[in-house]
Amino acid sequence: MSALSWEKLQSDCLACQNCALCQTRTNVVFGMGNRNSPVLFIGEAPGATEDATGLPFTGRAGKLLDSMLASVGLDRSEIYIANTIKCRPPQNRDPFPEEQAACLPWLKGQLELIRPKMIVCLGRISAMRFIKPDFRITQEHGVWFEREGRKIMAVYHPAALLRDPSKRGDAFEDLRKVEIEIEKLKASGEYSVG
Ligand code: URA
Repeated sequence: MSALSWEKLQSDCLACQNCALCQTRTNVVFGMGNRNSPVLFIGEAPGATEDATGLPFTGRAGKLLDSMLASVGLDRSEIYIANTIKCRPPQNRDPFPEEQAACLPWLKGQLELIRPKMIVCLGRISAMRFIKPDFRITQEHGVWFEREGRKIMAVYHPAALLRDPSKRGDAFEDLRKVEIEIEKLKASGEYSVG
């Protein structure tokens, strides 16, 4: 049994001052979804809507994410969604490496508590952090890797799909692979979101 608790992790995270983003944020975007899910989705960083609501993927990209999830029979109640960075970078710039490093303990805590069997990285930033630093999203999206005994894959970030809808077919095929893995877990009795 882990000594870490969701309550302590979340309250410490909401008070975080590990980097300068704490000075410009409105809300810390801790994460949301099913804490017992075998599947963890990891995005990049909150945008303006998420900063305002305190919830991940609540803007346009989030709406697209919801419809992509629905297209493979998933919804937010079955997965957990968190971001690599919990506070919005000004003007939605890419988070700096030192901001990512400062924020990593929160996601590590979430990983320790959820212990997912599968991770889906939404976009390049998350894939570079959790799969490999030289990850190439155009070439390696939809490929399963193994890290620390769990399967991990990256799909195109929904914001990239808003910019370039021609990539949506690839994203759908990649999410179908996630669905297939979930079906396998269900068949072996290892999938429980209860
Ligand atoms: N993009 C992300 O990566 N995360 C969010 O929560 C919103 C947009």
